[in-house]
Amino acid sequence: MLLPGLLDTDAIRKDFPILDRVVHDGKKLVYLDNAATSQKPRQVLDVINAHYERHNANVHRGVHVLAEEATALYEGARDKVAAFINAPSRDEVIFTKNASESLNLVANMLGWADEPYRVDHDTEIVITEMEHHSNIVPWQLLSQRTGAKLKWFGLTDDGRLDLSNIDQVITEKTKVVSFVLVSNILGTVNPVEAIVRRAQEVGALVVIDASQAAPHMPLDVQALQADFVAFTGHKMCAPDGIGVLWGRQELLEDLPPFLGGGEMIETVSMHSSTYAPAPHKFEAGTPPIAQAVGLGAAVDYLTSIGMENIARHEHVITEYAIRRLQEVPDLRIIGPTTAEDRGAAVSFTLGDIHPHDVGQVLDEQGIAVRVGHHCARPVCLRYGIPATTRASFYLYSTPAEVDALIEGLEHVRNFFG
Ligand code: ALA
Repeated sequence: MLLPGLLDTDAIRKDFPILDRVVHDGKKLVYLDNAATSQKPRQVLDVINAHYERHNANVHRGVHVLAEEATALYEGARDKVAAFINAPSRDEVIFTKNASESLNLVANMLGWADEPYRVDHDTEIVITEMEHHSNIVPWQLLSQRTGAKLKWFGLTDDGRLDLSNIDQVITEKTKVVSFVLVSNILGTVNPVEAIVRRAQEVGALVVIDASQAAPHMPLDVQALQADFVAFTGHKMCAPDGIGVLWGRQELLEDLPPFLGGGEMIETVSMHSSTYAPAPHKFEAGTPPIAQAVGLGAAVDYLTSIGMENIARHEHVITEYAIRRLQEVPDLRIIGPTTAEDRGAAVSFTLGDIHPHDVGQVLDEQGIAVRVGHHCARPVCLRYGIPATTRASFYLYSTPAEVDALIEGLEHVRNFFG
């Protein structure tokens, strides 16, 4: 099917060897679980392979050729990521293991900070009801440790943030506001500007979880006007084991480290230590080197296709998917039902068939979706459902795959009568 705005998926799919997989009885793989993790193009796999075949060594430690090459590749990946997110400085890009670690890092920096950043019993932390557990639990831990009050924005019936009480939720006591840019379960794209404006009015720091945004749309940390932005590599064509925390330079200079160890120090004596400047202050121990190099290659790959083009492609696919899903009897979309201000993850329930059963019957037809609460259980509680089935799309997704999903759901309905 030809829909205006689509990428040349015939060409793109040739870059992803796994998309040729056949699963079960000769069924061609239809991979619709991209919000959980994306597939990796040959261009990234080749770079990782070359790293281990030719350049493997620890970074920042050796004077030999391989150590220098590995360090240049690792630090080169930092340059690529900085350019990809329009960071004012490469030193603002911290490599972590994943977005969860990035968010835990911020919560712990603030937990150990002195004034003016200190979070204590007389302050408030604000999140939202649509957060992934990785942007809930670290703040619960911080709240339990410090006595700070944890508050959140609720959700409207159509899957958007309810900001009607924004002035009561974000107050003079708020120290930090942390929220997701694109929901992994609802697909909602949140109104960053309104939240940042209110947070800035009261002098609160802003943390944005961009895990479901960085892979899918242009991400400009300066335009977001946040203080920290977290995301992960494995959802954007890079390997797993590599995440990013971007933070404003003056904050990274002021805030304390969380993990201590090698390479994050300036000097160490038996009594005390001084720390290296950011980003190294926050990267204790041997970092995920090949993973960072792979992330650099993924950034090159995505940039060569163009993030605007990827966003347009996904918008068209998502619009088509929503239209077709709405034709399926008894199907209820959990989240916005228009493609505007929406990402490419579409959650739904199908009558009273349990999502795990939906997922299993789809899998038998070669269709990979995610089922469950998607690490966002409060969203399921809010909408009175135990779980959802989620189809999520990426730059290689096609309308034919949407059609396969719809056909698969017909099988599910027939199977369960
Ligand atoms: N956060 C990932 C998801 O939503 C794992 O599936």
